[in-house]
Amino acid sequence: MTLSEDKYFSAIEELEPKPGKVKRLEKTLEDLKVEEEVFDQYTLMTLYELSRRGYIDGLMGFVKTGKEANVARGVRGDELVAVKIYRAATSDFRRMWRYIRGDPRFKNIGRKRHRIVYAWTEKEFKNLTRAYEAGVRCPEPIAHMNNVLIMEFIGDDEGNPYPLMKDNPPEEEYAEDVLSNILDDYRRMYRKAEIVHGDLSEYNILYGGKGDYRIIDFSQGVVLDHPIAEELLIRDLRNLIRFFERLSVDTPTLEEALEYVRG
Ligand SMILES: Nc1ncnc2c1ncn2[C@@H]1O[C@H](COP(=O)(O)OP(=O)(O)O)[C@@H](O)[C@H]1O
Ligand SMILES: [Mg+2]
Repeated sequence: MTLSEDKYFSAIEELEPKPGKVKRLEKTLEDLKVEEEVFDQYTLMTLYELSRRGYIDGLMGFVKTGKEANVARGVRGDELVAVKIYRAATSDFRRMWRYIRGDPRFKNIGRKRHRIVYAWTEKEFKNLTRAYEAGVRCPEPIAHMNNVLIMEFIGDDEGNPYPLMKDNPPEEEYAEDVLSNILDDYRRMYRKAEIVHGDLSEYNILYGGKGDYRIIDFSQGVVLDHPIAEELLIRDLRNLIRFFERLSVDTPTLEEALEYVRG
């Protein structure tokens, strides 16, 4: 028997963020870990450890489930956090390896599968931290451990995440500003944080309306001296220009955007 994701979380949802919560979380995880398909034992132990250290008090349903990562709502005190959980079993190791291999921050990680997924998670956390500290509009990083990353939840007060920019494009009167802000963000990312995003598109920008957006999903980001940094930079800017062109915004050429970002 395997538990459906819904059942799993209905069990977890009973947890309230109150004293004694860790114990109850432990019990729930104990009950579920054997037949769990969504989370393997190590993931459950990691979630428990993060909870023991006070980073999460419980989980309240998935925001999105994907092949490689699931994103859940976490509760922390009276706040929501986003909990991104990489799935060791279904991750694309070859692709991950290609990004990690050229990154001087990740020497000597070996080629064991779980190590690659952990390094991937750590890479996303480090990229997000650098970007956030450089002033890029992105979620605030909170913690990472093994295959789990915790960050600020980007959404409304009811716990609905902001929609993707692809599904909720900027309104006409904000579109131009949004593009120019994203280009500013990219410039900060490049010049201050010294990384490229690597997967920038309307699929990795959350848009809440009235010009309010956040760039997410820094897992594919690499440092500037990585062999594929240039290729990724060009692809990112192309994606951005293409999307805003379709919104009939006056867009820079690729060369202009590159020049602006590099400064
Ligand atoms: N910090 C966050 N706050 C709210 N929702 C998020 C957050 N991070 C990710 N999500 C949601 O989860 C989805 C997947 O996250 P993402 O980081 O793009 O992973 P991937 O594309 O690898 O599945 C996003 O499209 C978004 O809907
Ligand atoms: Mg994504």
